[in-house]
Amino acid sequence: YTTNIVTLSRTLALIKPDAFDRNLSGKIIEHALDSGLRIITIKSVILNKKQVESFYDVHKDRPFFSSLVKYMTSSTTVAMVLEGPNAVDHWRRIMGATNPAEALEGTIRKQFGESVERNCCHGSDSNDNALKEIGFFFNRRELL
Ligand code: RTP
Ligand code: MG
Repeated sequence: YTTNIVTLSRTLALIKPDAFDRNLSGKIIEHALDSGLRIITIKSVILNKKQVESFYDVHKDRPFFSSLVKYMTSSTTVAMVLEGPNAVDHWRRIMGATNPAEALEGTIRKQFGESVERNCCHGSDSNDNALKEIGFFFNRRELL
């Protein structure tokens, strides 16, 4: 016989303000669920400048940083913790490339992204960053 041990992991996913404002939250969530990921928790927030600057701190010296902060504070963001096998890579794969113009057919960003900045969603890029980013939005009691 064979045993098949599946290790579940988690990622932070965001539905960014451009997508929230276009009423695309449901469709993006549907992509996640249809792909086999499970929602552990979900909330909506309006991020302030300080929070976005901290969340995207790695990009603080990039030329697009101030524009990114303005965009990400412009409206509501939906934050969710997704779980599944290799959740980080899985979610990034179904989101598609950062620039929707370069994203593969069938990906969320190809379908819904407006530009390299207004690209409708976010996903953590490593397990370590997933842990940090989940902690940025959710406390322990929200993550049972
Ligand atoms: P994210 O962190 O949001 O999941 O996106 P990502 O890993 O695919 O892309 P990243 O390089 O981390 O960039 C973070 C976000 O900054 C905006 N951006 N604008 N104008 C530009 O050239 C540019 N490049 C990136 C996007 O909103 C991107 O998702
Ligand atoms: Mg990133």
